[in-house]
Amino acid sequence: MEEEKLNIISLPVEDDKEIIPEMEVIEAEQGGREFEVETKNLSVSFNGRPAISDINLSVRKQTATAIIGPSGCGKSTFLRALNFMHDMIPKSKVTGEIIINKHSISEYDTVDLRKKVGMVFQKPNPFPKMSIFENVVSGLKMNGNKDKKNLNEVAENCLKHAGLWEEVKDRLKEPAVSLSGGQQQRLCIARTIAVSPEIILMDEPTSALDPISTQKIEELIFNLKKEFTILVVTHNMQQAARVSDHTAFFYMGKLVEYSRTRRMFTNPKEKLTEEYITGKFG
Ligand SMILES: Nc1ncnc2c1ncn2[C@@H]1O[C@H](COP(=O)(O)OP(=O)(O)OP(=O)(O)O)[C@@H](O)[C@H]1O
Ligand SMILES: [Mg+2]
Repeated sequence: MEEEKLNIISLPVEDDKEIIPEMEVIEAEQGGREFEVETKNLSVSFNGRPAISDINLSVRKQTATAIIGPSGCGKSTFLRALNFMHDMIPKSKVTGEIIINKHSISEYDTVDLRKKVGMVFQKPNPFPKMSIFENVVSGLKMNGNKDKKNLNEVAENCLKHAGLWEEVKDRLKEPAVSLSGGQQQRLCIARTIAVSPEIILMDEPTSALDPISTQKIEELIFNLKKEFTILVVTHNMQQAARVSDHTAFFYMGKLVEYSRTRRMFTNPKEKLTEEYITGKFG
């Protein structure tokens, strides 16, 4: 994995690919793989003020997409729209289309959608009154699963998957809040994957964590995309380069560039992208 990670950053852009439009390159690389998330002219406004406008983005199954851009450019708004979260916000308006797994988001009821689309937030948010074990299986229990053997199995699998099992296997009954911040974030990831989502949205999942925990979460993202489709918001360019296949650059509510990550960080199409990734603003 280490090797592959390094390649993402160091591989030169092949000349022949440069003459092919970006989306065709993506098609060629991942041809046949279906789109998992598509947005068409997706716009969100709050109190009549647009937060994102006309976002057209198509993400294929089992890939990781990084979303970058300066503070306030609409990254979280975009992610939350994919999970119907603006529903709860008064005076918000969502227009355009969101298609999840070939179905318009309006065809799903909220509970089904949340099962399909899991979300991990910047600040780890384990359920504070629950144990480590209870946190992982909470979604399954809510869905009516009472089979103790099955719950034990799922908890172990998901904690292994989230790279936390070895650290917590002897303390599963302890409160989740007794874990460190980095462990809590991995617990939240275990809780998210326990209900078998297809898509995992992560909003700056490592920005509250130390470098070692950050590295663990990055490795996790890199591995999770074999099974899940991941969209991750990050302010950390190296992180975007390390974990993602494609990167979307947002600026003032618009999608400025959507490219292969390797290309975005070696030879961006837009001047604005170049200025942002080289730290000229933001
Ligand atoms: N609930 C809300 N009510 C009103 N305005 C909102 C709401 N949520 C977001 N906004 C506005 O929408 C715009 C985009 O915000 P958003 O949180 O999506 O930015 P962001 O790119 O995630 O920024 P950051 O990097 O700081 O997290 C901002 O101008 C913000 O003030
Ligand atoms: Mg945000």
